[in-house]
Amino acid sequence: MKRMTQSVAVTLAVLVLVGCSDDPHADHGGGVTAPHTPPGAEREFRIPLADFVTDPSLGQRLFVAHCAVCHGETAHGTDQGPPLIHRIYEPSHHADIAFYRAIALGVHQHHWDFGDMPPVPAVDGEQAAHIIAWIRQEQRKVGIE
Ligand code: HEC
Repeated sequence: MKRMTQSVAVTLAVLVLVGCSDDPHADHGGGVTAPHTPPGAEREFRIPLADFVTDPSLGQRLFVAHCAVCHGETAHGTDQGPPLIHRIYEPSHHADIAFYRAIALGVHQHHWDFGDMPPVPAVDGEQAAHIIAWIRQEQRKVGIE
C-alpha cells in the first residue's frame, strides 16, 4: 500500500515537471496563452447549459446592438440581411443550434441573396442564448413555433 502511494506521488511530480517545461515561453502569470496561434484564429464559444436562465429583454438589447444592422431592429430584415421572424427560422427548421452556429461561425449564403453572414465575435454563448430567447418570443407572437 505504501509503495502505491509513493508511485502516485512520483507520477504527479513528473506531470507537474512536464507541465512546467512544456513551453519555455509560457506565461505562468495565470493567463491562458496560445503562443503559436495568431490572435483571433481560435475562438472559445460556449453554449450555456439547458438550465441557463435567459432574459428576452436583454436579448432584444443585444440584438439591436449586434444584429439589427443587417436583420433590422425588430428582426424583420433590411437590405443587408433576411428577416428572422419568418417561417423558415421556426424552431423545427432552424433549431437553436443554427443560431449559435451563425453567431460563432457565420453563415454562407444559402437561403437568400444577401451574401454571407460574418461571425459576430462580440457576442458570447450566454449573450447568444438571450438573443435566441428574444427571437423565439417574437416568433411565437406571430404564431411561428
Ligand atoms: C453583416 C450582416 C449580418 C449581421 C451583423 C448578422 N447577420 Fe445573421 N445573417 C445575415 C445574412 C446575409 C444571412 C442569410 C444567409 C443565407 O441564408 O443566405 C443571415 C442568416 C442568419 C441566420 C440563419 C442561419 C442559418 O443557419 O441559415 C441566423 C440564425 C442569423 N443570421 C442570426 C443572426 C444574429 C443572432 C445576429 C447578431 C448576433 C446576426 N445574425 C448578425 C447577415 C448578418
